[in-house]
Amino acid sequence: MADLLTGKVAVITGAASGMGRSAAEVFVANGARVVLADVQDGAGVALAERLGAAARFVHTDVTAEADLERAVGAAREQFGRLDVMFSNAGAAVDLAPVAELTAEGLDRTLRLNLHAHVTAHRLAAAAFREQRVPGSIISTASIAALQAGWNGAAYSMAKAAVLALVRQTALEAAGTGIRCNAILPGAVLTSIITNMFGIPAADEEQFLTGVGEAIADQTLIGRAGVAEDIANTALFLASDLSTWITGTSITVDGGATAYTKDATVAAITEIASAYH
Ligand SMILES: NC(=O)c1ccc[n+]([C@@H]2O[C@H](COP(=O)([O-])OP(=O)(O)OC[C@H]3O[C@@H](n4cnc5c(N)ncnc54)[C@H](O)[C@@H]3O)[C@@H](O)[C@H]2O)c1
Repeated sequence: MADLLTGKVAVITGAASGMGRSAAEVFVANGARVVLADVQDGAGVALAERLGAAARFVHTDVTAEADLERAVGAAREQFGRLDVMFSNAGAAVDLAPVAELTAEGLDRTLRLNLHAHVTAHRLAAAAFREQRVPGSIISTASIAALQAGWNGAAYSMAKAAVLALVRQTALEAAGTGIRCNAILPGAVLTSIITNMFGIPAADEEQFLTGVGEAIADQTLIGRAGVAEDIANTALFLASDLSTWITGTSITVDGGATAYTKDATVAAITEIASAYH
């Protein structure tokens, strides 16, 4: 593995599982020191122990501004600086269709999947400005921001709004060197899917194997995503390899949104063949 993040310090939210955990591993393997921010204390502490001196776990509910402040503070106090904010925590929360979506369900979904990103961007940008060292802000959105049908309505709306937030944060940082981008994952085999369908933890591995087989042919690559696919994209956006990339997003979905499954041209070609 390369040393793409040597000397850099990152806060990773949602670091106890899935993409966040994988990003923590990949970042540390590339020379970073990381603050692992999550509500899952057991998994977070275990990961910090496994990663050693380069990692600290800080109990963080990203919907609580004071918690996120503590996570950023830990990065600066314990590791001396902040270079990367990977705002990644998320969950489906309320899966109701629009016709049944309550204001309360929408609020709860937005609090985690939108408001927490706003807070993370604000705190990270403030820290970067104070240090006078530009950094990279990365938010995990979703291809649900682009197409309906991948997740619940409220979640999809939140993720779409994250794309606007990323552009806005990038604009407000103009001229500072601070960058802000989103990653749009497709279907990735992590606990978010297990939790969405209420599958017991003991059955997760078997369940996700079945899901992976079932959805593989929705991609052009021929497999479902794994957490490392997203972690490696976050590594690129966190590193100095991407210093001219800001205010945009990278879709990481095996090509799932690159084509239409309706095969419109194929259907018209078949009809047209009757005319020749
Ligand atoms: N897996 C997918 O198919 C997929 C697709 C598109 C986008 N995403 C997004 O990717 C991100 C990471 O999800 P994942 O797939 O790794 O799922 P995951 O469930 O494995 O990890 C999500 C992590 O976020 C944490 N979290 C949830 N609520 C929190 C809160 N209030 N405060 C702090 N931490 C909290 C969880 O404890 C968990 O560790 C999420 O933003 C999710 O919406 C996932």
